[in-house]
Amino acid sequence: MTTRTIRDLSAADLAGKRVLVRVDFNVPLGADGAVSDDTRITAALPTLNALLDQGAKVILLAHFGRPKGAPEAKYSLAPVAARLRTLCSRPVHFLAETIGPAAVAATHALPAGEVLLLENTRFLAGEERNDDELSRQLAELGEVYVNDAFGAAHRAHASTAGVARYCRPAVAGLLMERELAYLGGALATPARPFVAILGGSKISGKIDVVEALLPKVDHLLIGGAMACTFFRAMGFETGTSLVEPDRLEMAKALLDRAGDKLVLPVDAVIAPSMNEGDAARVVDRTMIAGGEAMFDIGPATVAQYRALIESAHTVLWNGPMGVFEKPPFDGGTRAVAEAMAVATGRGATTIIGGGDSAAAVVEAGLESKMSHVSTGGGASLEFLEGRDLPGVSALDVR
Ligand code: 3PG
Repeated sequence: MTTRTIRDLSAADLAGKRVLVRVDFNVPLGADGAVSDDTRITAALPTLNALLDQGAKVILLAHFGRPKGAPEAKYSLAPVAARLRTLCSRPVHFLAETIGPAAVAATHALPAGEVLLLENTRFLAGEERNDDELSRQLAELGEVYVNDAFGAAHRAHASTAGVARYCRPAVAGLLMERELAYLGGALATPARPFVAILGGSKISGKIDVVEALLPKVDHLLIGGAMACTFFRAMGFETGTSLVEPDRLEMAKALLDRAGDKLVLPVDAVIAPSMNEGDAARVVDRTMIAGGEAMFDIGPATVAQYRALIESAHTVLWNGPMGVFEKPPFDGGTRAVAEAMAVATGRGATTIIGGGDSAAAVVEAGLESKMSHVSTGGGASLEFLEGRDLPGVSALDVR
């Protein structure tokens, strides 16, 4: 079964129709109140342009931040509308309401080939509890529902899931389709060798994805502070490094089961604190002790990881190798990004699983050198864990 997409719709399904599109415009704002990173807005443009080119009236639903079910000025989508206007060649209107008679009237009054962005769906009390009445009200805003918000597809909310009960056809947009194709393809039919790299601070947040990936990958490379929980499970000292004592048994069991597939750092960059980069030094992984902590993988690990990544045919990465925002602890994360760029150049499929690793790739200027950079942090993790994404399962299948 495959999720239907806008490409399965005919011209008659779209021309002059009110097409309700859920997008993920949850973007950061700078100190000036303007959008500081418009990656997610840009990523939705292919879907919007495809619909506009067919003469659809495009009505956008989006959430922004985490307001508590009531309007809060700082979470208005107005700055997002301003940025969308500069990126979209068609007129973009913004209405400071989401549902109700004024919103419904605005959708009818919208000329074909134009865009109407409605106010933050999380200003509505029923959104996050997937309220049925709200889902009905949202469905009144369109005749066709398109979900292109991969980044919010792990949320079972009224605008991502419930609305599809009342607004059919309900199909995926082009970004959603692309995300599912890359992430799903890596899991289902990876070209081998298939190397996954997992980092970040806590093993607890990644354990399900480790479990899900282990049977599928050829090598699973571990970085970030979560490596220290494994080190402790192996009987090494870890100094003041972040360790999750309640996960030691789990780490031991994984080490026993995974055998050679699970690859841990052999050395580490350590320092008394992450603010004392001047005092950073490289030690063997068995020598992290006293008042120092691991803040990055070391150069011998980098060399080993580079070799494995550069010779892989599928590479999937989620989570930084160290404190990449703070040099000199950015070396491991940067090296993984560079090795993946090399792998792409050699014909490998390289996928960045959103969140911090996506930010690191953008920071390194290597975004265009990856096959796919996911726009979803939490969503891509849940997908990789093998969990059902409510925003996808609500859609029509063929
Ligand atoms: C994200 O930024 O990861 C998505 O937009 C989902 O946002 P949320 O975590 O607030 O649901």
